Amino acid sequence: MQPTVIAPSILSANFAKLGEEVDAVLAAGADWVHFDVMDNHYVPNLTIGPLVCEALRKHGVTAPIDVHLMVEPVDRIVPDFAKAGASLISFHPEASRHVHRTLQLIKAQGCQAGLVLNPATPVEVLDWVLEELDLVLVMSVNPGFGGQAFIPSALDKLRRVRERIDACGKPIRLEIDGGVKPDNIGEIAAAGADTFVAGSAIFGQPDYAAIIARMKQAVAQ
Ligand code: DX5
Ligand code: ZN
Repeated sequence: MQPTVIAPSILSANFAKLGEEVDAVLAAGADWVHFDVMDNHYVPNLTIGPLVCEALRKHGVTAPIDVHLMVEPVDRIVPDFAKAGASLISFHPEASRHVHRTLQLIKAQGCQAGLVLNPATPVEVLDWVLEELDLVLVMSVNPGFGGQAFIPSALDKLRRVRERIDACGKPIRLEIDGGVKPDNIGEIAAAGADTFVAGSAIFGQPDYAAIIARMKQAVAQ
């Protein structure tokens, strides 16, 4: 198992002062910045693109930026995110015509690569590509919006993906995204996740350090 990573989703941050918000969560103990990219096509919402990622780098953010692409097609936007300073790029297999090719493209651009499983996507989608991955992201909500309720079947999916990662023996991270809160994060960690995205649970609180500490404590128990 990899060391725990808390990755606040900036989807729930105050976009009018995004640089300050990112500085604040990182100073409060966050490990990565989770960057949700939505295109109003693959998902019914529209958010931010490479320009904002580049602006965060120019602002001085040095922490890993974990780009979660909810866009279709995928390949066209990958080089732009790599140039903009993305550290990891994850995408949904349903949005790419050639999943293996997209993984190769992300790595050729110097980024780590992740595959995202929607609530109804079977774990078998990992067959034949697991060894190419740096990260598997299990969605515990349907992609498109922050603040939704955790879908409990994600726990069983985490356990199944964890088995596959352990059997493969590579240091692949297992990330969970959607409805993660201090009161369910312990159970989620026990199911095998090591990387935790949380948007509304963190940015909805006045004290980012307190909530991140509570989450890390619950994972460690
Ligand atoms: C949903 C996004 C998530 C979302 C998480 O499509 O991928 O990252 O912002 O938000 P919360 O933690 O509020 O469920
Ligand atoms: Zn996300």
